[in-house]
Amino acid sequence: MKDAEKLNIIIVGTGYVGLTTGMALGYLGHRVICVDKDTAIVDKLERGISTIYEPGLEELLRDGRETVTFCGDMLEHLPEADIVIIAVGTPSKSNGDTDLSYVEGVASEIGQAMDPESPPVIVNKSTVPIGTARRVETVIKEELVKRGVSCCFSVASNPEFLREGSALHDTFYPDRIVVGTEDVQALNLLRQMYAPILEQTFTPPQAVPRPETGSLPALVTTSPTSAELIKYTANAFLAMKISFINEFASIADKVGADIVEVAKGIGLDKRIGPGFLKAGPGWGGSCFPKDVRSILFTGSQYNCDMQLVQAALEVNRKQRKKVIEKVQQSLKVIRGSTIGVLGLAFKPNTDDIRESPAIDVIRELLDMGARVKAYDPVARDKYRQNFPEQNIIYCDSAAEAAQESDALLLLTDWDEFRHLPWPEFGDNMKSKIIIDTRNMLDSNELRSSGFTYSGIGR
Ligand code: UDX
Repeated sequence: MKDAEKLNIIIVGTGYVGLTTGMALGYLGHRVICVDKDTAIVDKLERGISTIYEPGLEELLRDGRETVTFCGDMLEHLPEADIVIIAVGTPSKSNGDTDLSYVEGVASEIGQAMDPESPPVIVNKSTVPIGTARRVETVIKEELVKRGVSCCFSVASNPEFLREGSALHDTFYPDRIVVGTEDVQALNLLRQMYAPILEQTFTPPQAVPRPETGSLPALVTTSPTSAELIKYTANAFLAMKISFINEFASIADKVGADIVEVAKGIGLDKRIGPGFLKAGPGWGGSCFPKDVRSILFTGSQYNCDMQLVQAALEVNRKQRKKVIEKVQQSLKVIRGSTIGVLGLAFKPNTDDIRESPAIDVIRELLDMGARVKAYDPVARDKYRQNFPEQNIIYCDSAAEAAQESDALLLLTDWDEFRHLPWPEFGDNMKSKIIIDTRNMLDSNELRSSGFTYSGIGR
């Protein structure tokens, strides 16, 4: 990237969105300052140690950091910043509303220290409720008034669509980039920032190869409000799509159909598409649950009752119970049984356990008097830290979790579970029962190894 096109970018928040985005923009040649209040995180990142588990991030921290620095305070860097990206946490409140205190805290700091002669473009990347771009603008203006200065600046909405476990891939090769602003100059600056991605002119990082699809990302330009709503609509639709197939998995179970084949049969219709039609134990993570509750809260504020989104949430809650029913159908008596759980993370390729199905399922199995042995390639320690009170036997391998177990319960579709030595596993189990809640295993292979196999909807 030519010098003229390089921008000075501050990105506040080094979670899986902020750090991923910061490292990707740095790799593209921009001068990026990643800011985090937690100096322990800053210190680790400065030493090239990744504070989150994201495929490809370690490599970028090691090799792609020429123009990236980390610090605990952005104030001294604000004056020369072209763009300030807000990527801090926006946790759920108990009533489903979104806690904007971190976002507003950053907005205040910007208002206190930005140079009114050369204001940066402020960008909301965190998932924020409708109207937050305007809220951030108001907070900054209030700080400027306190300083006795005023200036024209703009706050744009630029929501992320990153999946945990493929956040760098989704950053470098997005389907689309959404920019919500009424300010042409701000739009041009963001277009410049994303130009290498929009044109796919950059050399792919070794750890994040370019997919063959070949189509260039689209740039969607709209108002800040529409951009904010795009984010919620996308996540609510994806969550609903998963709950939809999970609902049909219940019927498939009853009538003896195979939901994997049903999903294939509908997904080939281009109007439906094959993605996000994998039946399972229900969705988890830090986004779908939070965003669905947040948009339902917003709907309630505008007297829109959003029944379909509400139903998606209800189906998802019940899906955990369906997993317990599956275990009961297979094991008959849960009390006093030993159940080997494969997978604790809410999805593969991440150590994130937030709202993972494993949390509700394991809690219920323990309450029903089962002995639980659990293995996860990456998320075990985080799980143990979060649930010290749960009396779980943590294992170092899938084989250990299977040893002497009455049943194996696969909850997370980690690749390493796909082709385990099933005959050997079966020989070491008390009974050869496997419940594959991700429908990821070859049921014929399991059955020919003497297992009683059940999936979700197959
Ligand atoms: C999601 C959105 O995909 C992403 O665009 C947004 O920016 C953040 O939220 P993420 O939560 O990281 O990303 O994971 P995702 O891969 O979307 O999976 C969400 C949940 O749905 C996981 O629990 C996953 O196991 C489940 N899932 C996903 C299914 O049960 N079936 C599917 O077919 C796909």
